Amino acid sequence: MDKILVTGGCGYIGSHTIIDLIEHGFDVISVDNNIRSSTSMLNRIQKITGRNIPHYPIDLCDLQATQNLFKAHPDILGVIHFAAYKSVPESVINPLFYYRNNLNSLINVLDCIHEYKVPYFVFSSSCSVYGNIQKLPVTEDTPLAIAESPYANTKQMGEDIVLSFSKAFPNHKTILLRYFNPGGAHPSGKIGEILQEGGTNIIPVMIEGYLGLRAPLSVHGNDYDTRDGSCIRDYIHIMDLANAHTKSFQYLQNTANVPSLDVFNVGIGEGVTVFELIKAFEKAVGETLNYTVGGRRIGDVSAIYANYEKANRLLGWSPKYSIDEIMKSAWVWYQYYQTEQEA
Ligand SMILES: NC(=O)c1ccc[n+]([C@@H]2O[C@H](COP(=O)([O-])OP(=O)(O)OC[C@H]3O[C@@H](n4cnc5c(N)ncnc54)[C@H](O)[C@@H]3O)[C@@H](O)[C@H]2O)c1
Repeated sequence: MDKILVTGGCGYIGSHTIIDLIEHGFDVISVDNNIRSSTSMLNRIQKITGRNIPHYPIDLCDLQATQNLFKAHPDILGVIHFAAYKSVPESVINPLFYYRNNLNSLINVLDCIHEYKVPYFVFSSSCSVYGNIQKLPVTEDTPLAIAESPYANTKQMGEDIVLSFSKAFPNHKTILLRYFNPGGAHPSGKIGEILQEGGTNIIPVMIEGYLGLRAPLSVHGNDYDTRDGSCIRDYIHIMDLANAHTKSFQYLQNTANVPSLDVFNVGIGEGVTVFELIKAFEKAVGETLNYTVGGRRIGDVSAIYANYEKANRLLGWSPKYSIDEIMKSAWVWYQYYQTEQEA
């Protein structure tokens, strides 16, 4: 079986992608220093897939440890590099922490990919590289604007590093996936997003606010130039996003003459406002949500959603889930997660 190394394998997107890769016949190993996650994700993956994933608790900023891992697995077909810090507000407060981790880990991984001749590489990029864009929807050709936060800058700089790498070493085939806003959980309801300390992802924040586990959701600004004044985002179901990685490897393996670097937007192509997202949540739980409206947040762009035609045409990828399914699955997972915590 073709072996994929998943960095950040215990994180939200990494864990769901491992499940999708296994379901499509790939073998997987995980590396994660668990600074922002726990190995309990591996137990959840085991429950769903029946597979024990080999896991290495390595800090990818440690080059020697990273090299040892690659040396121990000379048969790796491809790497997906999810491992990174991802909070926009935290990156504004502590930028060096973000540059150090997100860039050093990427450089070390690329170093090993070259040294150990790994054919394929997929990098987790983000729609935040587009900055505050003027024209919607964004295509992969939309010019990148100034990054609105140090986090977004680590993704722009990360893309530049991968581009230079692929120009110097075109035998490695690389793909940049620019994710829009992932949400929701695996259909089993037995794995999903766990809010990190200080985490800001809106769906788990909304759920925890609803349950009284934290302050009610604060909508960051209702004075944007959008249809209801709140920010517009492209929310993509986590399993749709996971499948884009599987499709990327299938494309790299089965397509002749792929370029050394390609880039794809991974979003559903629809913009949803924060107030519309709240409505979808209320539909999922059957009750109204108590929330507050606060000021704008530094680093937020007003509206962004994808054109995913390129991923559809070349990868054969298209989203299957709606915003209602995202909210429903997130809610089902969270209730399961609570019972798991209480057990
Ligand atoms: N979740 C989103 O909204 C979103 C949107 C766009 C892009 N992304 C990108 O996708 C990737 C995965 O995001 P996620 O939501 O799964 O994040 P996550 O925080 O859930 O997972 C990232 C994992 O990487 C690990 N990690 C971080 N630094 C590491 C290091 N130096 N060595 C080893 N492990 C390390 C963390 O412990 C964590 O388990 C990230 O690169 C993120 O920037 C996420």
